[in-house]
Amino acid sequence: MKCDQYQNVFTKEFMMGPNSMRLLDEMLEKYPINRKLRVLDLGCGKGLTSLYLAKEFDARVYGVDLWCTATENYEQMKRWNIADQVVPIHADAHDLPFADNYFDAIVSIDSFHYFATEDSFLETRILPLVKQGGYVYIAMPGLREEMHGKENPLVMEWVEGEESEYELFHSIEWWKYHFNPSGQYEIVQAFELETGEQAWKDWFASGHAFAKRDGEYFEKGIDRYINIIGFLIKKL
Ligand SMILES: C[S@@+](CC[C@H](N)C(=O)[O-])C[C@H]1O[C@@H](n2cnc3c(N)ncnc32)[C@H](O)[C@@H]1O
Repeated sequence: MKCDQYQNVFTKEFMMGPNSMRLLDEMLEKYPINRKLRVLDLGCGKGLTSLYLAKEFDARVYGVDLWCTATENYEQMKRWNIADQVVPIHADAHDLPFADNYFDAIVSIDSFHYFATEDSFLETRILPLVKQGGYVYIAMPGLREEMHGKENPLVMEWVEGEESEYELFHSIEWWKYHFNPSGQYEIVQAFELETGEQAWKDWFASGHAFAKRDGEYFEKGIDRYINIIGFLIKKL
């Protein structure tokens, strides 16, 4: 895959979960974007996906994140020589500081589930920012099958008993129903990512303390329930 040339950044310094660059690579391989587009990287973390968009697609990227500061990310963008292409912004996805119809595309990799499970989030907060005919690329950890309020002991143990964390994970069917496409947009594709397993393995190999723990749960068989799901959404 194209992302394999970026192995040197698949480390605990930059990774915050399953390899976001690999997941985005798969999505863009399947559904490419043009070069030089204006792209919102929503929940960009430490900038792995922004780096990929800037280098591989010559995109002008707005990298928005809540837990990582704009200054930290700016310093890193300078080290990667992409500070002229990536604008780091510290903001909450609930209150994004952009004009309507500003972006050609929005990507949100391993972050959407943290802020978008509330009703109508996609329609009211995200879609207004994309131009008509533009696309939203979402990839995130999900469930192979919805649990319908039932408690899965292994998943619950993995999230250390935190109900709010447990409720972040849903199946493709749940998200489809949740998105409830109107005439405003369509779900072009909803699928399980083929690179999900490798993206988790990249994370386990990163040396991050959280990755070590996640790896232990995958050895206990949590991957029977958890996968990586993707949505490609088009604004009509
Ligand atoms: C698991 S990390 C993944 C980061 C990055 N996408 C990656 O995969 O390397 C989840 C990210 O979602 C971001 N996030 C969570 N809630 C958010 C919110 N309300 N608004 C913006 N970003 C948010 C966090 O700041 C965090 O960086």
